[in-house]
Amino acid sequence: MTDRRDGACGAEIIDGKAFAAGLRQRIGREVARLKAEHGITPGLAVVLVGEDPASQVYVRNKGRQTREAGMKSEEIRLPATATQEEVLAVVDRLNADPAINGILVQLPLPAQVDELAVIDRIDPDKDVDGFHVVNVGRRMVGMRALVPCTPLGCMMLLRDRLGQDLSGQKALVVGRSNIVGKPMAQLLLDANCTVTIAHSRTRDLPGECARADILVAAVGRPNFIQGEWIKPGATVIDVGINRIDAGAGKTRLVGDVDFESACRLAGAITPVPGGVGPMTIACLLANTLTATCYQAGLPAPDLD
Ligand code: GUN
Repeated sequence: MTDRRDGACGAEIIDGKAFAAGLRQRIGREVARLKAEHGITPGLAVVLVGEDPASQVYVRNKGRQTREAGMKSEEIRLPATATQEEVLAVVDRLNADPAINGILVQLPLPAQVDELAVIDRIDPDKDVDGFHVVNVGRRMVGMRALVPCTPLGCMMLLRDRLGQDLSGQKALVVGRSNIVGKPMAQLLLDANCTVTIAHSRTRDLPGECARADILVAAVGRPNFIQGEWIKPGATVIDVGINRIDAGAGKTRLVGDVDFESACRLAGAITPVPGGVGPMTIACLLANTLTATCYQAGLPAPDLD
C-alpha cells in the first residue's frame, strides 16, 4: 500500500490497484499449484445479456484477467431481447458443465428478465458473486459461504490498513443494496465491528458519519458524502464509481465521497478510480479459485 501525502491531502491513499495486482499474482500461483498437484484448471463463465457499454468493458476485463491468472474463461453473450427462459437455459447448461466452477451473470439484466429468478437458478456452489440466497443465508449464520466480491475486496483493504482485528470499531455503511451495502454490513459484523447501516431515510447522516471509525460509501451518488462529516482519522472506503460531466465534452470518474474535502480529515481513503474498483475483479478470481477448491474437496486457498 502506498502512503502518498501530497498537497492538502493529509490522508493515506489506499492503493487498491497495487493491492489487487498483488492478489492476482497470489491467485495465479495457487492456480498453478492446483494444476500441478491436482490436474485441475478453474473455469469461470460470465453471462452478458444485451449491449450495455459499461457491462461490456467489465466483462472484457474479467475475461482477460481470468486468463492471465491461468484459469479457463468462457463468455456467453445473449441479445438484449433474450427471454427469461433463454437465460435460465444458459445457467442450467453451465450448472451441469464440470469444467465450469464459477458462474457470474452480469447485472443489470434487461427488464423482461427476472434478476432474482436467474440468481436463484445458479448452483450455490458455483455462485462466485455470492448473491444466491443459500450463500446469503450461510454467511448470516456463520457457515462457509461464497462472499460478494466488492465487499470482500473492501474487507481486504480495511484489514491491510487497520490490521486483522477490527473488533469494536464503529463502522458505518451508507447504502443497503444486496450487492454491496447489506453484505458489507454482515462482513463488518462478522469482524466484530459495531455496525450502522444508513440509507435514504436516515435522519442525521452527518451525525452518523461523525461517529464512524470506518465509513463505507455505496450509494451511487457522485461526491455525496461531505468531507466535513468525516471523523478525524477515520478510514474511508469509497465504493462509488460515478461518471460526471467534466466540461469541454469530457467526463470523469468520481466516487460517492467528496475526495478533496474528505482527504483533509480522513486517516486513509480509497481513491476513485484505483481504490475499490480493481479489487472487485481480483476477488472474483479469488472466489472462483475458492469455489473450485471446495468443489474438489480441498481446503480454501491461502491468499494472504
Ligand atoms: N454489476 C455490477 N457489479 C456487479 C457484480 O459484482 N456482479 C454482477 N454479476 N454484476 C454486477
